[in-house]
Order: sequence, then structure tokens, then C-alpha cells
Amino acid sequence: MDSKRLKVVLDLTFGAGGHSKAILQSVPGVTVVAVDRDPRAFQLAQHLAQEFPGQVKPVLGRFSELDNLLPALGLGPGDVDAALLDAGCSSMQMDTAERGFSLSKDGPLDMRMDGDRYPDMPCATDVVNALDQQALASVLAAYGEERHTRKIAAAIAQARSVYRINRTLQLASIVAGKCRAFPASALFARRDRLQRPSHVATKTFQALRIFVNDELNELHAGLHTVQTLLRPKGRLCVLTFHSLEDRLVKRFIRGEDLAAPPRLSIRQRAKARREVVEGECEEEEESEEEEKGLEDTYWVILQKKVMKPSEKEVQENSRARSAKLRTAVRR
Ligand SMILES: C[S@@+](CC[C@H](N)C(=O)[O-])C[C@H]1O[C@@H](n2cnc3c(N)ncnc32)[C@H](O)[C@@H]1O
Ligand SMILES: *[C@@H]1O[C@H](CO)[C@@H](O)[C@H](O)[C@H]1NC(C)=O
Repeated sequence: MDSKRLKVVLDLTFGAGGHSKAILQSVPGVTVVAVDRDPRAFQLAQHLAQEFPGQVKPVLGRFSELDNLLPALGLGPGDVDAALLDAGCSSMQMDTAERGFSLSKDGPLDMRMDGDRYPDMPCATDVVNALDQQALASVLAAYGEERHTRKIAAAIAQARSVYRINRTLQLASIVAGKCRAFPASALFARRDRLQRPSHVATKTFQALRIFVNDELNELHAGLHTVQTLLRPKGRLCVLTFHSLEDRLVKRFIRGEDLAAPPRLSIRQRAKARREVVEGECEEEEESEEEEKGLEDTYWVILQKKVMKPSEKEVQENSRARSAKLRTAVRR
């Protein structure tokens, strides 16, 4: 690595700036390109730019818009030394009731990461009230990996025939079983992998959020942009929080055709079925089949196994519990 050249790091998910700040503090002279689609995050990036004059370039935009936005900063293929993508929504978004992401804080059922930047873009209220029942069930199945999809979609359809569902707690309680979507309809009847109670509407909220923000296509666009911008030996780090995202990242850095159905071993297929039936998500194992053919991709994979937080880390920060980290180096 040419240590005289000043480094350029692309933080694709600035959020509240935790990662960007840590990078600025540990790499002297580094330039951080701080991207986020959320206007609130963009404001915070602008503040950080004042703290580190000339070192932070705030960019307001989605991953899919970067090919148009980054050339204005003079960034082209090979100009980026490292890229970081911390997928999903931020604690800031989760904890602000008005953004409508949280099923435990009442707020408008919004969920748009872009805030009001695109007034015509449907929010979660539009989705739950306008999508026909069947399409709604498909969204829940595809993005929530939810097994009670038809019951939940029916409960939503029944409720919205009486009133417009436009608050987070309304939706949470509809799903929770006013409508008997679940046999044992205690609100926190489900348990996560650490045996902590999880709300029965968690997956419904996740599915709507992914759909509203087109998160999987966005993730793919972001990875693609990074693949173009990183210099040879440049490094990519991706943090994801559920298996749909992780699977996409894994397949992308393996150079698999994402339009083709995943290549699963018999064991993995059995496991995938169990996941659907039991509604829980186990570790994905890397099969031998998949280890082949890595030579012809754009990436060198650093750890064959996905990295996960330690128990201690999870105790200190429960939101890290489902985090998975993958890193790869551009060839
Ligand atoms: C998990 S948070 C990042 C937190 C950040 N690492 C920190 O230290 O505060 C993810 C952020 O990425 C943003 N984001 C998600 N998808 C995006 C996309 N497609 N384009 C741009 N930003 C996106 C969200 O708005 C959110 O602020
Ligand atoms: C939310 O729906 C209720 C009917 O359930 C309606 O009276 C109210 O105006 C709606 N609010 C918004 C902001 O759409």
C-alpha cells in the first residue's frame, strides 16, 4: 500500500457517524466520503465536516444514486481505498417515534429512510392500506421470512376495511392477535435466538421496512458501486442484520449470479425448510461446493466464515445480536 497517498474511505451508511468518527480518529489525514439517504444523518455528517475540516465529504443519497453523485466529488473507478456498509436502519431512526420504524413507540406508520425527500414515494401506511391482500402476504413472506403471512394479511385487510391503519402501534396490535393471527397471542410470545422475548410483529415490521425502502435492491446497488470504485487491494466491510441481507452479500462477493436461484447443498435446503417452518433463522453453513470457483471473482474473501459478535458484545449492545460481518479485498 502506498502510504504517502492520503486515504479515501467510503462510509456508505453514515447514520449517526459512529464509524466515520472512529476512522477519522484513527487514520491521520484520511478523507471520509459520508453517504446516507436520511436527511437527518446528512446534517450530522455536515457537523462532522466542520469538526474535521476538509476531511469529510457529506453525500445525501441512496446507494442506487451514487453512480450519479460521486463523480461530482471527483471519485471514479479505483479512487477508493476502503468501503464500509452497515446495512439496515439506524438506532436514531429506530428510536425516533415519528419515523415510524418502531413497534414499541407509537408514531405515524412511515418507515421511509429518505424522510420527506421524495413526497410521492409510498410510506408504510400507503403499503398496508393499498396493497391487495395477496400482495401483502407475498411481501411479508419475501422480506419478513414470516410463516403466518396469510393470517396477518387477512387481519390487516379486515382492520383496514374499518379504519385507515396509520400508526405503528395500530399495526403492531393488529398483528399481535386482536385478529387471532397467532394461537397463543401473547404479545411477546416469540423468543429470539438468545431466548429473549421478541414481539410477534417484528418480522412484519422488518418486511414492510425492506419493501418501503427497496433495501435488497439498494444493497446490491451499493455493493456494485463499491466494486467499481475500490482500487486493487482495497477493502470492503459489510455488516448485515438478517439473513436476507447476509445471503445477498455472501453471494455477491463470491461472484455468484444473483438472478439465479441460490446453490444450496441438501443440508442447507433442509435447514432452509426448517427455518420457514419453525420461523427461526439458524446459522448458514458454508458448504464445500460453494468454496469452489472463487478464483474468477472480483474479490478475495478474507474470512471464509462470517464474523459474529461475542456474547459480551451482545450483552453490552443487544442490537448487535444479529450482526454479521463479511470482509473482502478487491482483486
Ligand atoms: C445501521 S445505520 C448506520 C449506523 C452508522 N454506522 C453509525 O455508526 O451511526 C444504517 C444507515 O444507512 C442508511 N442507509 C440505509 N440504506 C441506505 C441506502 N440504500 N442508501 C443510503 N443510505 C442508506 C440509513 O439511513 C441509516 O442511517
Ligand atoms: C389516520 O387514520 C384516521 C382514521 O383511522 C384518520 O382519522 C386520521 O386523519 C388519519 N391520520 C392521518 C395523518 O392520515
